[in-house]
Amino acid sequence: MIILGIETSCDDTATALVRDGRDVLASVSTNQDAFHEKYGGIVPEIASRQHVALLSAAVDDALGRAGMTFADVDAIGVTRGPGLIGSLVVGVASAKALAFALNKPLYAVNHLHGHIFAAFLDREEEPPYPFLALLVSGGHSQLVDVRSATQMHVIGRTRDDAAGEAYDKTARLLGLSYPGGPQLDALAKSGNPKAFTFPRYRSDAGALDLSFSGLKTSVRYFLESEAGKDANRADVAASFQAAVIDVLMARVNSAFASGNYRALVVSGGVAANSELQARVRAWSERRRVPAFIPPPKYCTDNAAMIAAAAFRQRAIVRVDPLTLSADPNLPFDLAA
Ligand code: KG4
Ligand code: ZN
Repeated sequence: MIILGIETSCDDTATALVRDGRDVLASVSTNQDAFHEKYGGIVPEIASRQHVALLSAAVDDALGRAGMTFADVDAIGVTRGPGLIGSLVVGVASAKALAFALNKPLYAVNHLHGHIFAAFLDREEEPPYPFLALLVSGGHSQLVDVRSATQMHVIGRTRDDAAGEAYDKTARLLGLSYPGGPQLDALAKSGNPKAFTFPRYRSDAGALDLSFSGLKTSVRYFLESEAGKDANRADVAASFQAAVIDVLMARVNSAFASGNYRALVVSGGVAANSELQARVRAWSERRRVPAFIPPPKYCTDNAAMIAAAAFRQRAIVRVDPLTLSADPNLPFDLAA
C-alpha cells in the first residue's frame, strides 16, 4: 500500500511516498528557513503563503523521485493538527482535493503521532509495544505511553517551554541565528559541559513533568553577569545542553521505573541532537533496552512520518474528503 503523505503544520512544506508505512520511496521537504531567518522565528503568515506556493510542486517532486504517478498512490495521509492554522489548512485543502479527485481514501493524522512513527521508517526491526516515546520538538516535549498504534497516552509534558524552544531561545542569547537548535548542538561540541552548573528541573516524586523556562532564564542572567560576559560561548552551550539532557534522561528513568516498557523511542526535532543521541545510546546499552531514534531527516518535520502513522492507524483515522477540517489544537488521544 502506497501512501502519499502531506505535512504543512509549521514551516516545512513536506511530501512523501511511503510503502506499507515503512519503506520511504521519496521524502521531499522544502525548508522555508531562508524566509523566516531575518525575523528570528517563524512568521505564520509567511509560512502559510509559502505552503500555497510550494505544495503542488512538492507533491510532483515526490512522485517524480519515486518514479510514480497518481495512479500508483493508494491513499493520502495528511497532518490535521496540532500546528499553525494557516499552515495546516493548506495541506488539508490540498489532500482533500487530491483524495476527492483521485477517489482514494484520506487519512487525517495527528502531527505528534507522526513523530512517534518516524521511528518505524526505513528499518527492518520495529519498536516492540508497549514502548515509551520521548517526543521533543520545537512545539512539544512529552513522554508518551504507547500501547499500540492507536492506544497512546501522554504521561508527562512540559509545564512551560518545549525542549526545542529552549534550544532556540538559548541559541539566540548566544548570538546564533534561527533555527538555533542545530547551531547550538554544533557549538557545544567544542565546549565543556561541566564548565557551568545550570539548574535541572526536578518534578515532584512520581510526576513526569518537564520544565525548561527556568533553565533558559538562568542562562540569560548568567550571560548578563560579569562572569558571563567573558565566558566561553561553547562552554555555555555545552553546559546548557547537559542540563536539558539530564532532565530528559531523568524523566525517562522515572517512566521506566513505573512502566513495563520494551523499548524507548526518541523523536521530534531535538532527537536530531548529537549529544542526546549519544546519551540515549549509552543508556540503551547500560539498561539493555532497545532504543529507536529516527535518522535526523525523519526527526525533524517530514511527511514520511505522516504516511507511517496513517498506515498504522488507518482503521480509525479515515475521514471524508468533503468534510475534513484542520484542527490547530487537535487533542492527542485518538477517539476510537
Ligand atoms: O519537530 P520539529 O522539526 O518541528 C516541530 O514540530 O516543532 O522540531 C524543530 C525543533 C527546533 O526547535 C530546532 O531548533 C530543534 O528542533 N532541533 C534541534 C536540533 N535539530 C533541530 N535541537 C537541538 N539539536 C539539534 N541538532
Ligand atoms: Zn514536529
